[in-house]
Formats: sequence, structure tokens, C-alpha cells
Amino acid sequence: MEVVPALNRLLRPVAALPAQISISDVADRLLMPEHKAFLSLPVVDEAGRPLGLVSRATLQDIFMQRFGRDLWGRKPVVEVMNPAPLLVSLSTSLEEAARQITAQLQSPIRDDFILVDPQGLYCGLGTVLDLLKAMESRVAQRNRVLRKALVDLKESQTQLVQSEKMASLGQMVAGVAHELNTPLGYVKNNVQLLQDLTRPLLELADAQAALGDCLHNPACAEEDLAQALQAATRARELAAPELLADDLGQLFGDTQYGLQQIGELVLGLKDFARLDRAMSEEVDLNECIRSSLLIARTSIKDKAEVRLQLDELPRIACAPSQINQVLLNLLTNAAQAMDDYGCIQVKSWSDGSQVFVSVQDSGRGMPPEVLKRIFDPFFTTKPVGQGTGLGLSISFKIIQDHGGNIRVASEPGRGTRFLVSLPRMQADDMKRSA
Ligand SMILES: Nc1ncnc2c1ncn2[C@@H]1O[C@H](COP(=O)(O)OP(=O)(O)OP(=O)(O)O)[C@@H](O)[C@H]1O
Ligand SMILES: [Mg+2]
Repeated sequence: MEVVPALNRLLRPVAALPAQISISDVADRLLMPEHKAFLSLPVVDEAGRPLGLVSRATLQDIFMQRFGRDLWGRKPVVEVMNPAPLLVSLSTSLEEAARQITAQLQSPIRDDFILVDPQGLYCGLGTVLDLLKAMESRVAQRNRVLRKALVDLKESQTQLVQSEKMASLGQMVAGVAHELNTPLGYVKNNVQLLQDLTRPLLELADAQAALGDCLHNPACAEEDLAQALQAATRARELAAPELLADDLGQLFGDTQYGLQQIGELVLGLKDFARLDRAMSEEVDLNECIRSSLLIARTSIKDKAEVRLQLDELPRIACAPSQINQVLLNLLTNAAQAMDDYGCIQVKSWSDGSQVFVSVQDSGRGMPPEVLKRIFDPFFTTKPVGQGTGLGLSISFKIIQDHGGNIRVASEPGRGTRFLVSLPRMQADDMKRSA
């Protein structure tokens, strides 16, 4: 908690002047060393109530006049004092005092201000200079507090973004694990089947080898040869290689297809999660679209058909994993917006200065009151536990950091279209503009 410097730290306990004191005497007192710091001296009545302030400037004006001292010197000071001095109660807060004083301050400053106790009795003088110093240190203290709050805020924002990333990473990993499981399952089955089917073939090979040995061995007895022949014939009947050929071909083909799918998924995952080498990398956004689609496949496949219309694009400097994060969020949002099986159309194209990607869905769309809030952090219409509402606000920030733009058009019942545009920057332009 911040310590509030009390107003009494500004209090200068200057002895007040009685109302009857002469102007000359006041002038002499003002010259005394202990009064050097003051622009004025206070005048009070017998009870100690402040009557006014007699300022150095006023006295100076009088004594500069010809015969000023003779004409005015003996008169009581009340005749030349400021009868409406600025009174500030000691119980006032520093801010309130500063507000009151600055509101009435005249330039040049001719007077100090009088500090009074709650009964209105004179306590001492305060100077504007002291007040300004106190306010300055207060502002510096506030600044320090604010700066710390800003650092804390930035830190928690980074943590939030990080945990959102982790959450989507978790979802993604679960999705990919599920995707891997299907081909892995039938590759395993096929390998088991292949093992079962090839066992009689191996037995046939053994029997035929034994028969061959017998035939080549002149010492082999007739009886043994007959036995070997019989065993080889039985093994051939059991193995029935002519019937196996088709099955084996099919099984090997399926297994290869499964392994290829597993390979693609792993590659997609690697592409998707690659660590960005700053923004110096030049990337084909179509690759980002493809790898994001691969990752989003589990969440999309039961919800919508994906139609791609990708033009050839110039490579641009960007952080691909961040762009992937944006695309994944747009694709997931599109899939989650489907009430019935629908369509997600992803297009890419470029012009002389920008590269564009649009993601359009035939989902439920958004009413204007939702549409205007979708980029707000934590805004979500999804049930608790399903959406954090950070996806689009993070996407917005990422695209903004890339110098691009993200726009949206939506119609309830018809669908939504997000359009992302990124500047056609090459790595060299990036370095030059950095
Ligand atoms: N394609 C879309 N169609 C309809 N509504 C959408 C679409 N995209 C976003 N919205 C709306 O915008 C809201 C905010 O989206 P955002 O991606 O920021 O968060 P979320 O998807 O709710 O949560 P998270 O992304 O953290 O899973 C969504 O809750 C939804 O109401
Ligand atoms: Mg989202």
C-alpha cells in the first residue's frame, strides 16, 4: 500500500504577525534570514484566526515609491495585506490541496498559503514550491507503481497466451494421436495377418529344401526321398501360394498406405510445430494452409467438406508456426460453427503488394452483437470448458505483428468469411525495416 505523504510535511511553523503591527516592522521582519524562503507573512487576530497575508511584492511596491516609507511605514499592516489569503486545512489530502491551490494560483506567485487546523486556527505557512516538490515525488512514486503494474500485466498476458497455446497444443496432440491410431491399428493387424499367412510358405520352403537335399544326395535312401516328396507336396497344398498371391498383394498395399498416412501426419506435425527462425524465413502460405488442414482434420472431418482453391503464391517473410496457429483457429472455429454437415472453403491469392487467405464456412454465422466482440480477449459463445475466447484475439495480434490485417463478414444462418492479408515482404525487406 502506498504511503500518503501528509500535508503537514509542507507545514512551515512561521510565527504569525499581529494585526496591529506596522508596515515598517513587517518589512524588517521579512528581511530576517528565517523568512528568506517566504514570499509573504501571515497576519492573525488575537484568537489566532488568519486575517491575511502581507506579501514581499506589495511591500516592495510601497517602499519603491517616493516617500513610501514615510507615508505608509507607520500604518498597520492590515491596510496592505491580502485579506483573502488561500486557506488550506491540514486534514486535506495532498491532491485536494494541490487542486485548491493551483485553481487559485496567480502568476506571478505573490503569496504563500496558510495552513489551518480543523477549527480554522493558524498553524503555519506552506509554499507553492514545497507543494510542487511533494507532488512531483508523488507522481514519480505513482509512475513506479504503474510501471510495475504494466510489467506484471505484460507477464500475465504472456503467460495467458502461453497457456492458450498449450491448451490448443494439447487438443491438437489429442487429435493427431487419434488420427495416428487408425492407420496404426490396421497396419498392426495386417502385419499379424502377413505373419500368419507367410508361416505355411516358410514351411513349404523348408520342405522343398529338404527334398532338394535328398535329390542331390546319391546316398539318400528311396524311402527318405519318398517321405520328403510327400512332405513337400503336403506343405504345398497347405500353403496354396497361388491363392495367397492376391491376399498378400492387398495386405502389403494397405499396409503401405497406412504407413504413408502415418508418415504424412508426422511430417505435418513437424511442419506445424516447427520453431520459427525469427521472421527471416520465407514461407509459402499454401504450405501453412495444408499443414494446418492436416492438423485440423479430426475436428473438421465429421462437420464439413473442405474445398481448396489455392493460387500460386510468392514466398513471404513470416513466422510460420504463428500463421499456422491463426489458420488452425479459423478452421476450428469454422468447423465448430456447423449445425449440419457443411462446407469450408479455403482460398489463397496475391496481388502486387499483399498475400490473401480466406476461410469461408457455411455455418450458423453471427449476429451483429456477437460480430463486434469476437476479437475481444475472452469473448466466447462456446460452453464453459470448450472455448477460452482467446483464439481470435491472439490471431488478431499475430496478424497485426506481421503488418497484416484480419477482416470478417458474417450473416446469421448463411455463414462467415474471414479474410487474412499479409504484406508481400521478403526477408530482406524485413531486415531493412527492422
Ligand atoms: N466461423 C465462425 N462462425 C460463427 N461464429 C464464430 C466463428 N468464428 C468465431 N466465432 C465466434 O467468435 C467467438 C470468439 O472466437 P475465438 O476463436 O476468439 O474463441 P473461441 O473459439 O470461442 O474459443 P477458443 O478459440 O479459445 O477455443 C466464438 O465463441 C464464436 O461465437
Ligand atoms: Mg476459436
